[in-house]
Parts: sequence; C-alpha cells; structure tokens
Amino acid sequence: MIRSYLETAQEIAREAGALLAHQFERRVGFELKGDYDLVTEADRASEKMIVERLRSYFPGHGIVAEEGGGHESSGEYRWYVDPLDGTTNFAHGYPMFNVTLALERAGETICGVIFDPVRQEMFAAERGGGAFLNHRRIQVSKTGRLADTLVATGFPSRKRHLNINVHFYHQLAMVTHGVRRCGSAALDLAYVACGRLDAFWEFGLNPWDMAAGLLMVEEAGGRISDMHGGPATLGGVHVAAGNGRIHQELLGLFAEVFSGKYRVPLPQI
Ligand code: IPD
Ligand code: CA
Ligand code: CA
Repeated sequence: MIRSYLETAQEIAREAGALLAHQFERRVGFELKGDYDLVTEADRASEKMIVERLRSYFPGHGIVAEEGGGHESSGEYRWYVDPLDGTTNFAHGYPMFNVTLALERAGETICGVIFDPVRQEMFAAERGGGAFLNHRRIQVSKTGRLADTLVATGFPSRKRHLNINVHFYHQLAMVTHGVRRCGSAALDLAYVACGRLDAFWEFGLNPWDMAAGLLMVEEAGGRISDMHGGPATLGGVHVAAGNGRIHQELLGLFAEVFSGKYRVPLPQI
C-alpha cells in the first residue's frame, strides 16, 4: 500500500512541477505575505491542483498545505504539501525550486517526494524502502571530517531580526569547504540524501518544508536530529541533517556557537 501512495505522490508532484515550470517561463508577478515573504499565483495554482488530486484519490486523508488550501481529518493519514518550495528564487527567475509532498501515518512520515522540474529530478523515499533519485538508489556521502565537507543552510523570510543563524553560518563557513544557501530547504535535504552536500541545518522550518526531506536523508543512511542532538521533529525550532559520520563534530560546533563563544567584535578594516 505504501508503494502506491508513493507512486501517486510522484505522479502529482510531476504534474505540479510541470505547472510550475510553465509559470516560471512566463515570469509571473509576486505579492507579499508579510514584510519579505513572497507568494505568487504559481504557489496557489500548484497547491489547488495538488489538493484536488489528493482529495479525489484519498478523501479520508487530512492535508496540511502551506497556502492554506488543506483540511483536517479525523483519520490517521495526513499529507504535508509545499506547492512551491523556493518561492523567492522562483519570483526572481532563479531556477532553484521544487514541489514536495509527504505522507504521515499516526505521526510518522511514511513516504515523501521532492521534484525539481528544472533538472527533472524526482527524489522519492519510503520508510524502510530506501531513497531514490529518478529511480536509482541514493546514499549520503562518506565524508568523515567537517573540514572536508560542503554544507548548506537557509534563512527564513519571517521574523528575520530574531534569527541567530548568521552566527552558525559564520563559523561553518570558517571550518568547511563552504556553506551553500540555495533558497529551497527541500532541495537542500534531497542533496544531503544523495551526497551532493554533507549536512544541512536551519531554524524555523515548517513541517511541509522538511517532512519529505528528513525521511529522504534517513532512508539514504544519514542522521537527523535537532541542533542539540535531540530528536528531529516536524515544525521543531531547528533541525540538522547529515551523513551521520560528521554529526557529532557538527553538534559540537553548534554547541559552541549556542554558548556564545564566537561572538567577537568586528575587526576594523
Ligand atoms: C523557504 C525555503 C527556504 C528556507 C525558508 C523556507 P518557501 O520555503 O525553503 O530555503 O530558507 O525557511 O520558508 O517559502 O520558498 O516555500
Ligand atoms: Ca518551503
Ligand atoms: Ca512554499
């Protein structure tokens, strides 16, 4: 049964991805949801389509969708839908965005997909069944030292002034090969799962940003947690995901940054 949920999710993500790719070519305009949080007609059109499909295939399932088109249900199944992850990129014509869906049963994510319509890359995972990129099995990287890694993070559009991530960004940029900030959390997690990145962390993600990606990393042999090493939870304050081998070192560095050790005055240049 899980297999058919996953296949259906891939089919819907492909259809939504085609819609996004079409709108991307047209360069649709954007509106503001808050001070800096953008939304486009593509977010809404993609969500409408996905929710319609999910409702018709699985009428008893709940749906939590970013733009508010979902509905609760008393059943144990719930879909998390991000109809366009990477809206800021999309609105600027920067080709890094995706559509992502995940299905939870009784509080546990059982399958998830992340589809990048620009590169035609379909990342898919099911609990206990592995993670795949365009039907080929994927695995996390084998890098064993933080000093040899390429890592990624992101910054929220909401309440930026309260976000402390720049301190973590700074320290990681000092001790790794580099920190990427692609503007699409689901793709960051998919890239950890397939070994293009060694680790990812972020504050303030929503369940729909990370549900599929966290499962993807676990099923690709990686490790997920919060930034203190506790369990990773959907909608938790922060999350860290990586290849497992560097996790302790990464958490150790996070602990130092949380402690305030690196808050140094700016050098005068
Ligand atoms: C955003 C992206 C971004 C992350 C933000 C998310 P959206 O999602 O995933 O990479 O840094 O925290 O909100 O708004 O483009 O769906
Ligand atoms: Ca998102
Ligand atoms: Ca979104």
